[in-house]
Amino acid sequence: MKNWLSKKNTSPSHNAYAVVTGAGSGIGRSFAMELASRQSQVVCSDINLAAAEETAERIRKAGGKAYAVRCDVGNAEEVAQLADEAEALLGHPVSLVINNAGVGIGGKFDEMSLDDWHWCMNINLWGVIHGCHHFVPRFKRQGHGAIINVASAASYTAAPEMSVYNVTKAGVLALSETLSSELKKNNIKVNVLCPTLVPTNIIKSGRLPGRYSKLADHALMNYSMTTSEAVAKLTLDRLDKGQLYTTPQVDAKVFWMMKRASPKWYTNLLGLSYQFFK
Ligand SMILES: NC(=O)c1ccc[n+]([C@@H]2O[C@H](COP(=O)([O-])OP(=O)(O)OC[C@H]3O[C@@H](n4cnc5c(N)ncnc54)[C@H](O)[C@@H]3O)[C@@H](O)[C@H]2O)c1
Repeated sequence: MKNWLSKKNTSPSHNAYAVVTGAGSGIGRSFAMELASRQSQVVCSDINLAAAEETAERIRKAGGKAYAVRCDVGNAEEVAQLADEAEALLGHPVSLVINNAGVGIGGKFDEMSLDDWHWCMNINLWGVIHGCHHFVPRFKRQGHGAIINVASAASYTAAPEMSVYNVTKAGVLALSETLSSELKKNNIKVNVLCPTLVPTNIIKSGRLPGRYSKLADHALMNYSMTTSEAVAKLTLDRLDKGQLYTTPQVDAKVFWMMKRASPKWYTNLLGLSYQFFK
């Protein structure tokens, strides 16, 4: 059996002992369900314990093993406790952490308050830093491990009126790229997920100006080219293949290539289209 014990773990999403943050909804819930279908045991963690418990219950009803733990990823101590509690519940060291919890925010740069910046940075960026900070030393000690960090295509698209969100996700991308090379010798695999629109609750629960929150939610629910289930499956498959990046949709790939091919041309084009459509 290729499991977490083997030194050369080629399939870290199977038979894993996993922790998923933000597992009470959307992409996090889909990660938890998909992991369970791969015979992994899952600690479903969320700031909303009832939502995490619902995910865990769905897994148990389907015959899997899952536990629910409340944790605010923006709080370093709570994430440290999550790492201890997960190991105790699973009865094994954790082999895979998915730093998924995140929130949405949009609006013009000068509409953003410093509270908006701190709120979003604390969850989207510090939440991922806390997860890596508390799990990487454990993975190093045990000689293996795997990390999926959920960024966004926003980490490189730099779309207008998304400054706060873009900055948090660019940080997640940079951290993931750094860890991927730094931790290779420690047998720790890293994947970073960069999707465009995925139909979830992110707009409903986020901070968006009224003028476009309905429009954004409509676009998310009706024009995304994928589902949270497909995104979770693809990301776990890419982790198993040792791939660093997951850009699930065609538009995510096209933006990626345009930005890499000519950042100046890409940014000019974005500015012109923004002026035109505004
Ligand atoms: N939906 C999209 O279009 C999209 C696109 C790109 C990236 N993402 C990213 O995917 C991740 C998951 O978002 P989603 O779309 O599934 O949204 P969602 O709102 O459906 O789920 C997010 C979950 O995170 C939890 N959460 C929020 N704050 C938390 C905190 N401080 N600590 C712990 N849990 C917390 C929420 O309770 C919720 O269960 C986020 O990081 C988001 O930025 C989403």
